[in-house]
Amino acid sequence: MEQDVTKTGKVIAVCSAKGGVGQTMIASNLAIALHKQNLSIALVDGKLQFGDIAVALNLRTSMTIKDVAEEFDSIDHTLISNYMFEHESGIHVLPAPDRPEYAELITKEIMVKTITMLQQQFDYIIIDCGYAFHETTLELLDLTDEILVATTLEMISLRNTKQLLETFAQLDFMEKTKIIVNRYDMESLIKAEDVPVMLNVEEAHYISNDFKLTSQSLNIGIPILSLRSRSAIAKDIFKLSGKLFKKTSDVSGSKVKAKRSVSFFKRQKRGGRNEFIKSTAK
Ligand SMILES: Nc1ncnc2c1ncn2[C@@H]1O[C@H](COP(=O)(O)OP(=O)(O)OP(=O)(O)O)[C@@H](O)[C@H]1O
Ligand SMILES: [Mg+2]
Repeated sequence: MEQDVTKTGKVIAVCSAKGGVGQTMIASNLAIALHKQNLSIALVDGKLQFGDIAVALNLRTSMTIKDVAEEFDSIDHTLISNYMFEHESGIHVLPAPDRPEYAELITKEIMVKTITMLQQQFDYIIIDCGYAFHETTLELLDLTDEILVATTLEMISLRNTKQLLETFAQLDFMEKTKIIVNRYDMESLIKAEDVPVMLNVEEAHYISNDFKLTSQSLNIGIPILSLRSRSAIAKDIFKLSGKLFKKTSDVSGSKVKAKRSVSFFKRQKRGGRNEFIKSTAK
């Protein structure tokens, strides 16, 4: 029993400061890329209203996180995978509720405990978080080992991302945050290589632009890594997964994280998180 508790899967959240920038594409393909390194992977749709993982992967299941919420008291970490769909790629998926009004059934506590249970069963838990300023999302981000903030080169996305990163800095999240510039080679007045300076970060990670392939993939529900594993996007995702695997498999990282979480909760008691949400969310 005690042994189980020490098996702690790494949690990677994909979020953004603006919708439609490619979080679902990145989260679902990254999950598959990590699975190809012989790792057990849980992919969780953390966008509880209008979550789109089920459509993006064409899941044939009616089971969602709503079922987990309804039977929560009788579920432990040994049972949680019964509520997940095993996708043909080999990853296990926990979809969002199929109706937006069910989102409120999934409390912060349920979400956090679900992820904690999954950590005892899987090597990696990838969460497609959606909008980062949501309260439940901020709670989840505190649990994560890595936060991937997706942006495109559009000014609105970059401006919002900059504000998000300012919030992250105050929450001590920056050390585990990576910027993903999706569609970096799209036509734009802003150059991809200028993004790190604009956002005041050391580096960014880049994913190619291929609207035809991405929309085909999302429309037919076959991930890009299965549809065209040699495409530029697939190569970029494999590169990203390699870097993440290397970084998160470093054991010393979790010790640092444990310390930082404590100080975060101290600040939360002073009402810090709510103030951040009020001052940043519109
Ligand atoms: N690398 C890419 N190249 C071209 N088009 C892309 C790329 N990534 C995503 N797209 C397109 O952008 C749109 C949004 O993608 P996706 O659904 O993954 O974004 P999202 O951030 O999850 O959106 P939402 O906020 O609605 O959840 C889709 O039409 C998709 O085809
Ligand atoms: Mg999405």
